[in-house]
Amino acid sequence: MKKITLSATIVASVALFSGAANAQVDLDAVLTVEGMTIVTRAPAPDFLDIDEVISGWVYRASETQALQMDDFENPGMIFVDQAMDDWNTVDGTEGKSCASCHLGGPEEFAGLRAELPRWNEAEGRMFNLEDYINYSRVNYMGAEPLKWAKPRMDAMVALISLQSRGMPINVAIDGPVADIWAQGEELYYTRVGQLDMACANCHEDNYGTMIRADRLSQGQSNGFPTYRLKNAKLNSIQARFKGCMRNIRAEPYEIGSDEFRALELYVASRGNGLAVEGPSVRN
Ligand code: HEC
Ligand code: HEC
Repeated sequence: MKKITLSATIVASVALFSGAANAQVDLDAVLTVEGMTIVTRAPAPDFLDIDEVISGWVYRASETQALQMDDFENPGMIFVDQAMDDWNTVDGTEGKSCASCHLGGPEEFAGLRAELPRWNEAEGRMFNLEDYINYSRVNYMGAEPLKWAKPRMDAMVALISLQSRGMPINVAIDGPVADIWAQGEELYYTRVGQLDMACANCHEDNYGTMIRADRLSQGQSNGFPTYRLKNAKLNSIQARFKGCMRNIRAEPYEIGSDEFRALELYVASRGNGLAVEGPSVRN
């Protein structure tokens, strides 16, 4: 699928990128965490024109890669510990904590992160991890919903994501989510902002090349939430989308908007076959 045609602006923006694709990238680097080898390259899903999907970890400097290979070094794990405290903390009018009902601990959710976002039949809409967490908080605990892309929510998303670490992303794109997925695909290929660029211009056409001081990856979401060295905290998928839109001087969609939900589904599906890494470490 190629929806991009070269316009004058795009030709001009090619000056943004420098260096041969994948020069100095060790595509064969192996990600192991706590003795477990985690897949970082997989055959691309059929709907993509590229052959292979590659985790953003592959494109990071070896020092950054190393941080993710040791849970004691990975700064994202501090937030996982905080979320574990939160897990056991009573909140809301029902006097319950997550632990009161999910007796198996967060381990109950092994595999969940790999399938999200997905259609929630009972609610008649698509759910991501934030939705599930807030659903339980509001409906089962009588607690306030957590704000998306804020530390407490990002930490809980990290704790639950961790339970699926190493499992292949396997997001459904058909059935009731088909239209949402198509909207996400449309957004991915639509040029926006003063730089008049689409996600695809960077993450499909130029991954492996340098953009200013940063090496472009495929913009995969399998590593989220990611601990970023840049802002020293966990970053949610949609917060990252927002950052990328700001970088091309576009007006970002709202966190939790239909647009970002659609994009979250579509981007996740582009990584089908890659492994869940969250919390990962990135620049
Ligand atoms: C009063 C009981 C109760 C409490 C407290 C509770 N939950 Fe739930 N939760 C449920 C029920 C019931 C479901 C739906 C059935 C299921 O999947 O377990 C559910 C579903 C979920 C799911 C989706 C699971 C799936 O596989 O579809 C997640 C994630 C979740 N809860 C997280 C949490 C978190 C995080 C907390 C604490 C902030 C919490 N829950 C507190 C009862 C509770
Ligand atoms: C001008 C180029 C550019 C555009 C356009 C762009 N991004 Fe990015 N994006 C980056 C850079 C640079 C990074 C950080 C390095 C990397 O991982 O690629 C990044 C990182 C990401 C990441 C994190 C990858 C990881 O492994 O942690 C995701 C997800 C992402 N972008 C999604 C998007 C989406 C969705 C869009 C369209 C709304 C988009 N980007 C548009 C440049 C861009």
